[in-house]
Amino acid sequence: MILVTGGTGFIGSHTVVELFEEGMDVLIADNLSNSYADVIDRIEKITGKRPMFEEIDLAKSEKADLLFEKYPNIKAIIHFAASKAVGESVEKPLLYYMNNLNSLMNVLENMKRHSINNIVFSSSCTVYGEPDELPVHEQSPIKIANSPYGNTKQISEEILKDISKISPDMNIISLRYFNPIGAHQSSLIGELPIGIPNNLVPYITQTGYGIREELTVFGDDYNTPDGSAVRDYIDVVDLSRAHIVAIHRLLNNENKKNYEVFNLGTGTGSSVFEVINAFKKASGLKIKYKISGRREGDIEKVWADTSFANKELGWKAETSLEQSLKTAWDWENYYRKNLENK
Ligand code: UD1
Repeated sequence: MILVTGGTGFIGSHTVVELFEEGMDVLIADNLSNSYADVIDRIEKITGKRPMFEEIDLAKSEKADLLFEKYPNIKAIIHFAASKAVGESVEKPLLYYMNNLNSLMNVLENMKRHSINNIVFSSSCTVYGEPDELPVHEQSPIKIANSPYGNTKQISEEILKDISKISPDMNIISLRYFNPIGAHQSSLIGELPIGIPNNLVPYITQTGYGIREELTVFGDDYNTPDGSAVRDYIDVVDLSRAHIVAIHRLLNNENKKNYEVFNLGTGTGSSVFEVINAFKKASGLKIKYKISGRREGDIEKVWADTSFANKELGWKAETSLEQSLKTAWDWENYYRKNLENK
């Protein structure tokens, strides 16, 4: 059985679908702080299988202990559960440190206690900060974090590395995600931020649907071809599939070291204006936008060198930006028409 923490969230839910497609058993642990329990029904609708589910806050050690006692058959863990809003983390640093670090430590403590040796950790390209050279590869320098959120990812990676040094039996993979977007082909699961979206693509799809009046482009004076900031947008289904490869790698002892790190991106950077244009092609809609100053904490440009993940994992992102925006748009429509208020 694979324990997926944060399994009702955006990337978590898509990964659970892929795990089921692989014939694996799945237990989800999630505190539903940024997701809804009916995601489980929709995972069942897509796959015909229902994941086991525990609503639990893993940052509370006694709750985490009970979970691991109740399920003695966990073979590997994918640890998604974490808070991820950069701006909020600046306002509430303690919340982020407590939530993201305590939950990781409680998971690790229980892994030790129950001799569970395999974990895939959700890390982020945020660990690279504003890179000096592009694209960034796994050995690129880790820069001082721009936010408490980014710092929790850096500290988490440090914790995992330290543990790998003294525990040769522990097998750990950190996956550094670039910017996950898109939704499942079925339109039954997708990104569903609670409240006003922080991230670009849900803001665009909500503007397209008429929920938001207009998009604000945060800065057009960056040192980039069109002046807007550049990111590496990776499709969530492609991203989820990388987790399946990572889990197989751990369960089959194919890992080369007991702590490995991989970039998960497409290898291509896209500017905010390019995303707006690709959305127009995907949806036929020209969304209204205005330009404001830069958002605090934002970096100018980052995209991934994916050659290590491509070679070592035999994995590659396949979905185009336009295709991802199409599935994100289909999901927004399906959700608003069929799921919201039900
Ligand atoms: C950041 C983190 C990422 C983290 C994610 C979680 C970095 C480099 N990346 O992503 O690790 O997982 O937050 O939330 O720290 N934009 C607009 N208008 C909007 C929203 C966004 O112009 O309304 C722009 C941003 O300025 C940015 C791009 O769109 O240039 C992408 O923003 P967003 O989707 O929020 O992701 P990141 O900030 O790159």
